[in-house]
Amino acid sequence: MSSQINFADKTILVTGGAGFLGREVVKALKNHGVKQEKIIIPRSAEFDLRDQAQAMQMIKKFNPDKVIHLAARLGGIGDNMAHPAAYFYDNMMLGINIIEACRTNKVNKLVNIGTVCSYPKIVPAPFKEEDLWNGYPEETNAPYGVSKKAVMVYAEAVNREFGFNTVNLLVTNLYGPGDDFREQTSHVIPAIIKKMDNAKRNGDAEIIAWGDGSPSRDFVYVSDAAEGIVRAAALHNSPEPVNIGAGEEYTIKQLMEILKEETGFMGEIKWDTSRPNGQPRRLLDISRARNAFGFNPATGFREGLKNTYNWYLSNYDLIHAQKPKFAESRQA
Ligand SMILES: NC(=O)c1ccc[n+]([C@@H]2O[C@H](COP(=O)([O-])OP(=O)(O)OC[C@H]3O[C@@H](n4cnc5c(N)ncnc54)[C@H](OP(=O)(O)O)[C@@H]3O)[C@@H](O)[C@H]2O)c1
Repeated sequence: MSSQINFADKTILVTGGAGFLGREVVKALKNHGVKQEKIIIPRSAEFDLRDQAQAMQMIKKFNPDKVIHLAARLGGIGDNMAHPAAYFYDNMMLGINIIEACRTNKVNKLVNIGTVCSYPKIVPAPFKEEDLWNGYPEETNAPYGVSKKAVMVYAEAVNREFGFNTVNLLVTNLYGPGDDFREQTSHVIPAIIKKMDNAKRNGDAEIIAWGDGSPSRDFVYVSDAAEGIVRAAALHNSPEPVNIGAGEEYTIKQLMEILKEETGFMGEIKWDTSRPNGQPRRLLDISRARNAFGFNPATGFREGLKNTYNWYLSNYDLIHAQKPKFAESRQA
């Protein structure tokens, strides 16, 4: 790993550090020499960060040098459509409370994780950070996207007013080992892997997929994104938004073809066009991240999908015994 990165003996607190991206961020910190005892991973059962007093209490207790803020309410299109109010409220409160707690307790730097869902529904591809405000996000995930974008504006505002060091990263669709395969909340890649694998096991001739397969996505492998976040935490000091993606675009139809080959599912894909497509196109311009902190996503898409499917197979029993995401840790 790069010798440019040196966290010395800093204490780093990772909100959401036990989640899908969080576990990889923690691994990346360790790869860069941060000792286990210097990494704090608070859990929602101990500190519900939607509550400002609990956010303050947490930062006071651990007194970290840097905070990487990943905690969020997160799910696929279905859960976003079913609970738009929870997506807006939770993510807004989590973000504002963490920024305030960090600012008032003199944390040195906050890395705030935003999302590609904040971009306008229609914007020229590849998406450039300066286009972030040129329209309203796609309707199915707008409450999530707008709340994360508002938190970013607050992070920029406290930088301007108080000189508090904030970094804002806009992360595109993640995938990889450790992803969420639960029906209620999974995103497209784990949802389709599970459907294809089930169909293969049951000898089903077809699977149903949402939409018409035309939308494109920029999928970034989770450990590549985590490495980018850690590089930003070490090397970047500016609140303007920075895209984190693979910088490559695949349509959902192309994704299906690769997944058919990787899972060995030989049947048909039936498109349920009564279900939403989501945003028509997603591709990020990642040149700002490359130039600012040497971000270099290295995992090929097919290789990443292969690893994800292998992880699914090796964790099959565990995955199928999981309870729904939101009932297990906290109420919406
Ligand atoms: N996954 C993606 O495709 C994607 C794409 C773009 C951006 N992002 C961003 O990346 C970040 C991490 O996403 P992820 O996929 O890793 O999500 P995840 O697996 O759902 O992890 C989120 C974590 O947030 C914590 N959390 C949720 N509500 C909380 C609360 N009220 N108080 C304290 N902690 C709370 C949970 O902690 P406990 O486990 O302790 O309950 C959970 O581990 C999020 O900010 C998300 O917006 C993700």
